Amino acid sequence: TVNQPISSLSAEINQKNKNFMPMLSVVIPTYNEKGNIAALVEAVRDALGDIPWEMIVVDDDSPDKTYELAFQLAHKEPRLHCIRRVGRRGLSSAVVEGALASNGDFIAVMDADFQHDEKMLKPMYEKMIAKKADLVVGTRYAGDGGVGDWDETRRQMSDFATRLSRILIGNKTSDPMSGFFMLRREVVEASVYDLSQQGYKILLDIISSAPMPLHIEEVSYVFRNRREGESKISLQVMAEFLFQIIEKMSHGLIPGRFVLFSAVGALGLCVHLGILFLLKSYHVAFLPAQTAAIGCAMLFNFFVNNELTYRDRKLKGWAFIPGLILFCLICSIGALANIGVAELAIHQTSSWSLAGLAGALIGAAFNFGAASKLIWER
Ligand code: GDD
Ligand code: MN
Repeated sequence: TVNQPISSLSAEINQKNKNFMPMLSVVIPTYNEKGNIAALVEAVRDALGDIPWEMIVVDDDSPDKTYELAFQLAHKEPRLHCIRRVGRRGLSSAVVEGALASNGDFIAVMDADFQHDEKMLKPMYEKMIAKKADLVVGTRYAGDGGVGDWDETRRQMSDFATRLSRILIGNKTSDPMSGFFMLRREVVEASVYDLSQQGYKILLDIISSAPMPLHIEEVSYVFRNRREGESKISLQVMAEFLFQIIEKMSHGLIPGRFVLFSAVGALGLCVHLGILFLLKSYHVAFLPAQTAAIGCAMLFNFFVNNELTYRDRKLKGWAFIPGLILFCLICSIGALANIGVAELAIHQTSSWSLAGLAGALIGAAFNFGAASKLIWER
């Protein structure tokens, strides 16, 4: 009954403790999954049987209005909840938000597109209890697991990412890139402050951030094909992953954003040389050609950094103009710093390439620091 005093409720709970079943929260991140979500909720419900559960759909304001359908479903099924996030995007952060809003003793994370086998939820749950595990990973790379009919490129990319993450966490699981797993809520709560919450690799994030040693078990499954809609993984997500690995491996010394910023700078150099030689072929004199090339390279760098490196703090509308002016100013000072340092270094090493590299690094670090602080401030 609703108005029963809490004290008697807890007595009742204690009495039931003998055959206590931990409550399971299934967190399902969605972006444009309108064609999948209803069937998935049903499939998960059927698969869970007598396990006490709730489901939390975390939708990032999908253009196809997945959240609307989820709210409608939740009307009929009160154990289903939907969080609609506005102005935010990202698989990892959606998972974290869903987990923090959940109530369960165990939290499972799975995709909405039927690629993860909902029938494995029960064995995962049972393994959590029987083995007193902290984390059970659904793996495609052990036992009877598999990736279905992936093409060769996707297979190789996944393989590469798996290998990279091994550098970070060692051999703790056969499938560190898995988006399908179950864990104790304490694990989330203990590591939540250290999670980067960026990109797709939420499991890797949790394993590498958890402050306590984790007892990890695995359950194998075959990765199915997406039922409806299309994958949202992008080149950008993959590049970000690479930079985050570098950041973690250098213990934060080399920020991922700096690597991206430098890579854009290197591309800018190609633009510079391209323009220079293009103008040369039109018989433009060196000085005006070089000046034009510098201008184009700066424009290019500013634009690409705004779109990519600082995508999350993007300048829009009028803020673009002062940003661009400031960027040119910062780069000029950076160039001076570059020359100054190279000049100092050449007396130390007498190696042109070393001195040049030292100058370029300091120049890039200055540009990055100043741009991050003054233009794309958080
Ligand atoms: N809320 C939210 N926000 N959900 C998202 C976002 C986002 O920005 N991007 C993707 N999702 C949801 C999708 O709707 C889907 O339910 C799930 O996250 C996985 O997205 P997919 O786009 O289907 O990813 P995938 O199939 O390419 O990648 C899967 O396999 C990878 C390993 O191969 C995921 O499980 C990854 O986590 C996993 O690393
Ligand atoms: Mn998918």
